[in-house]
Amino acid sequence: MSAEQQTLFERVGGEQKIEEFIHEFYDRVLADPELKSFFKNTSMDKIRRMQREFFSAALDGPITYSGRPLSHIHHGRGITQNHFALYVGHLLDTLQDQGINEQDVQAIISRINTYVNNITGDIGSAG
Ligand code: HEM
Repeated sequence: MSAEQQTLFERVGGEQKIEEFIHEFYDRVLADPELKSFFKNTSMDKIRRMQREFFSAALDGPITYSGRPLSHIHHGRGITQNHFALYVGHLLDTLQDQGINEQDVQAIISRINTYVNNITGDIGSAG
């Protein structure tokens, strides 16, 4: 199969690679003074596990996300667009440091950016 025919999930290196980058990504999120307090009462093992599923599904992998809708999880926590931008910034740095090719990095970031309203609650409770 040529690179164009593969899913993003396959191109980045499948579940193993996603597990690695989620780990590294949350180390960065938790080291950010503007973000870490959001996670102080949360099981990071659970988030990492659910994020492995979420990202695998979002990158068209053969996995179904079994968690709650993103809006239910995130609304009411006071997450602003600025927090969201910081969070996605850490994701970008992580993906680049993990050696994922730039075109795939940009494709992943655009997909994740489409969830901004589900996370910050700017629009209703869709998703
Ligand atoms: C597109 C970006 C994001 C995605 C895809 C995402 C996804 C997720 C997922 C899959 C979970 C676990 C769900 C579960 O336990 O069932 C979760 C939990 C959580 N997320 Fe996010 N998230 C995003 C952005 C953010 C941001 C920007 C913040 C805060 C700055 C945040 C804070 C949290 C917190 C605090 C929890 C734990 C909730 C709890 O303890 O029940 N998330 N997120």
